[in-house]
Parts: sequence; C-alpha cells; structure tokens
Amino acid sequence: MELQGKNIVLGVTGGIAAYKAAELVRLLLGQGAAVQVAMTEAATHFVTPVTFQALSGKPVFTDQWDSRVANNMAHIDLSRTADALLVAPASADFLAKVAHGLADDLLTALVLARNCPLLVAPAMNRQMWDNPATARNLATLRGDGVSVLGPASGGQACGETGLGRMLEAEEIVAELIAFFQPKLLAGKRVLLTAGPTFEAVDPVRGITNLSSGKMGYAIARAAREAGADVTLVSGPVDLASPPGVERIRVSSALQMRDAVQQHVAHCDVFVAVAAVADYRPANPSPQKIKKGQQAKPPAIELVQNPDILAEVAALPNPPLCVGFAAESENLHEYAESKRRSKKIPLIVGNLIHHGFGGDDNTLTLFDDKGRHPLPPAPKLELARQIVARIAILLEKP
Ligand code: CTP
Repeated sequence: MELQGKNIVLGVTGGIAAYKAAELVRLLLGQGAAVQVAMTEAATHFVTPVTFQALSGKPVFTDQWDSRVANNMAHIDLSRTADALLVAPASADFLAKVAHGLADDLLTALVLARNCPLLVAPAMNRQMWDNPATARNLATLRGDGVSVLGPASGGQACGETGLGRMLEAEEIVAELIAFFQPKLLAGKRVLLTAGPTFEAVDPVRGITNLSSGKMGYAIARAAREAGADVTLVSGPVDLASPPGVERIRVSSALQMRDAVQQHVAHCDVFVAVAAVADYRPANPSPQKIKKGQQAKPPAIELVQNPDILAEVAALPNPPLCVGFAAESENLHEYAESKRRSKKIPLIVGNLIHHGFGGDDNTLTLFDDKGRHPLPPAPKLELARQIVARIAILLEKP
C-alpha cells in the first residue's frame, strides 16, 4: 500500500497503449490510491470510458462541457484535490499541446489549470519519438518541471522496433511511488553489492550461500527513489533489476571485486550488502570432476577471498562505506567489532531468526553514536530508513 491516501488523476490520451492504462488503474488502486480518470476524445476510440469507470469505481470525464459538474469547471475541480496528475499514455500530440500551453479539451485544460505535479508516460511510434519536434517539446516539458516516465524500447504495435513504447503498468506505478519519496540523495552516486557469490569447483559445481539479494535490491531501489544515481553489482539472484538502476551481473567474489573497483571512483556511498563467500576453491577443475576416478573423495583446497568492503574503506579517498553483519547470536558485539575492524562509519546488523530470503527483516544500525534498532518492517521500508541514515551521515560525517 505504497500510495495509500493519494489522489491520482489519470489522464488517458489516444494511442494503442491506452489498453495498458486499464491495468494501470487496477495497480494504482491495489497500492491504495484513489483514481479519477479523464480521457481525451481520441482515447475513447481505443478503450471505452465504461472500462475505466468499472475499474476505478468513479464516473470518467471526457468532455469540458460535462453537465455532471455543477459549476461546469471540471478542469479546475479535478486537479484541486489531486496529489498528482499522471498521463499514460501521453501521445505526441498531447505532449506538443502541453509544451505550448494549449487547452482545447478537458485534459489539456486540466493540465494547464493544475496545481499539482504532472507526470507523463509517452507512447508513440519510434519515428514520432525521434522527430526533432517531439524532442523539443519534451525538453520544454522537462524544463517546466514535468516528470517524463520512459519511454521504453522494443517492439511496437505498428510492427516497428525502437524507442517509444509506453512503460509497463508496474513500471509506471514504481515510478510514481518513487516520485513521492523525499529526494534525500539527489545528485549522489551510490554503488552497492548484493546477493551471494558463486565460487566454482568445476564447470558444473560451486560453493555459494542462501542470500536472496532482496535486501540489497531494496536498498538500491530506495537509493534510486531518493534521487541517487545507482549502480548495483549483483551476484546470481532471481530478481528483476530495480527501475532506473544500472545492474552489473557477476558470479564470483573476484568478479564482484573487479566490478566494484571499476565503478567506485566518484562514488559518494558504497553499500556492501552481498554475502561474499569468504573462501574460494584454490584450483577449480577445468573439467567436470568424475566420481570414482580417485581412490579417496576429492578434497577441495580453499583460499581466502579479498574483503571487498575493507578494500574500499581503505582507499585514500573512500566513499561513505556501509556494511552488513548477518549474525545468529551476539549481534551487538559482532556487528560493532566488524564496523571497527573494517573501519566503516555504519554497519547494519541483522539477527537471523528465520533464515534468509523473507520479505521482512529486523535490523539494528550501528554507528559512532551507538546502536539504533529499527522496528520489524518490510525490506523496502527498512531500506528507506537506511537511506535516510546514510543521508544524515553524508551531511554530518
Ligand atoms: N564483505 C565484503 N567482502 C568479503 C566479505 C564480506 O565486502 N569478502 C562485506 C559484506 O558485503 C558485508 C560485510 O563485509 O557488508 C560482512 O562482513 P564479514 O566480516 O565478512 O561477514 P561474514 O562473512 O559474515 O563474517 P563472519 O563469517 O566472520 O561472521
């Protein structure tokens, strides 16, 4: 329920992606938002107002001259209680009109008369998107403070392939949720590690651990929502990349360390969430190890992996370093001693009660000022609190 209590006016303009707006209404309601739909006349040729009325539970507005509104000023009334005006899909024609301040139908009049933020999710043919006129209009809109969501690249309804596809409904909802978060890390660059590492024994076997990657991915998402430029170095996990985050996939600890070293320059913050294998096989076999070919079961000799977090913290000009300590006992003592030995300002302690991989967590933050237990909460909520703490430490180290 990330949009609980938010009033969203959803504008729908004429384009084949209008069918995705129906799903968008459902997802917005599912996050607790109230949704009021306003359609252009062109949009009604793609999806009928009845569809949106049934989904949103509210009459749909399509016309400036709507006698249902007592004062006949729907263009004013609709935006006054709205927290945001979201237009999805936003056609090239609609964007051109808004860029020029035209107001010749209900939706454009509503946009011009609004007193709330405007977000648009463009959808159009790739040539229309590439047209310099569209680029000019988008630049004007961005300059006017309009948030432009997408578009994505891919196959289009016309059979062509390129930029101009509307974002998927889930992506638009994620962007809207992010929009409402405070921009505590605006302009900052954040590098993270997440997930387990996989240390090969032979081409088909290896040593790994049960880290799901969820906590690291949640912090990457929260940092992005807070306005940071985020790079996520991820071990093998089965999770989608958070929107707007650059993800670099790696497998072993050595690959993770290489990727971190390549991206750590100019970073303001490094958050090491990955459960890096402490040891790797010294001599992984180039061929699959066959059973029964040796007299004894094979022994795997291990060598220690580099401590990626400690290496970053030891750089001449290190970013603000944040570590994690997952412990099954003595959390306070172990977390604090890791913080000191790795020489990092903040460590997030996690007392493992129920194993790895859940959606909720119980965390305690340890920094110079002592320990700060966080109430049990979903990982994204905890991630936002960690981001808030990082923002404070960046201001007053
Ligand atoms: N870390 C790292 N590189 C490693 C090992 C750990 O960057 N090779 C980071 C983790 O991402 C985490 C923190 O260091 O932020 C965990 O510290 P560590 O002492 O390595 O934890 P454990 O491996 O759990 O240590 P122990 O087995 O002693 O509890």
